Amino acid sequence: MSVREEFDDWAASGRDRGMEDRHWHTAKHVLARMPVESGDAVLDLGTGSGYALRALRERGVGRGYGLDGAPEMTRNARGYTDDDAIGFLVGDFDDLPFADDSLDHVFSMEAFYYASDPVHTLEEIRRVLKPGGTFYCAVNFFEESETTHAWQENISVEMTLWSRAAYREAFREAGLYVAEQDAVPDREIDIPPESAFPTDDWDSREEMIDRYRTWGTLLTVGVAP
Ligand SMILES: C[S@@+](CC[C@H](N)C(=O)[O-])C[C@H]1O[C@@H](n2cnc3c(N)ncnc32)[C@H](O)[C@@H]1O
Repeated sequence: MSVREEFDDWAASGRDRGMEDRHWHTAKHVLARMPVESGDAVLDLGTGSGYALRALRERGVGRGYGLDGAPEMTRNARGYTDDDAIGFLVGDFDDLPFADDSLDHVFSMEAFYYASDPVHTLEEIRRVLKPGGTFYCAVNFFEESETTHAWQENISVEMTLWSRAAYREAFREAGLYVAEQDAVPDREIDIPPESAFPTDDWDSREEMIDRYRTWGTLLTVGVAP
């Protein structure tokens, strides 16, 4: 199944809003760290419902572009805002439809690891970023967060499982400096008492703590030279 088929289905069944609610727990902390300035142009890679751009516009970003491979995602995202300074476009991480040195920042939450050639996607990001521009790459699926590994079984699109070190290495290979790397915990998700486990989703409380509080979201920040 293609990205389009897989995620068009998600959008049609309302999972775009469900992701927004869950991802917001950590995405808002990542967005708060971005050094955006008034008038900046920002790309959201794998934008889903487009919530990141709506939030960044409140901080004065001049122009937001939400790129997604699933047309239904972009159609829904357009319907969630009437802000003309945000544009949604259908495209692929392999070939970013932007000129060299044209963007101030790129953000991506829970999407980068779906790239069919992730190092090439990083090279594309480097190409479109202005010198000094940043890439805030946030993922919940990574090597150290072991409870996430089974996600691949439930999705038809091939996912890249990198470690923290592999992210840093790939950023550098693509020509980006690594300015920061951090695990952003999800402190909002309710973790029930020991007696509630096992639950439908979790075998043990330790596993749930590992997923949300210990690891949460891996943030890697790249800077274009
Ligand atoms: C798990 S969703 C995350 C959406 C949103 N960023 C969020 O935090 O809720 C991943 C999104 O990336 C998009 N996507 C995945 N692979 C893609 C690719 N190769 N090119 C463009 N979009 C892609 C999907 O269509 C989907 O909307």
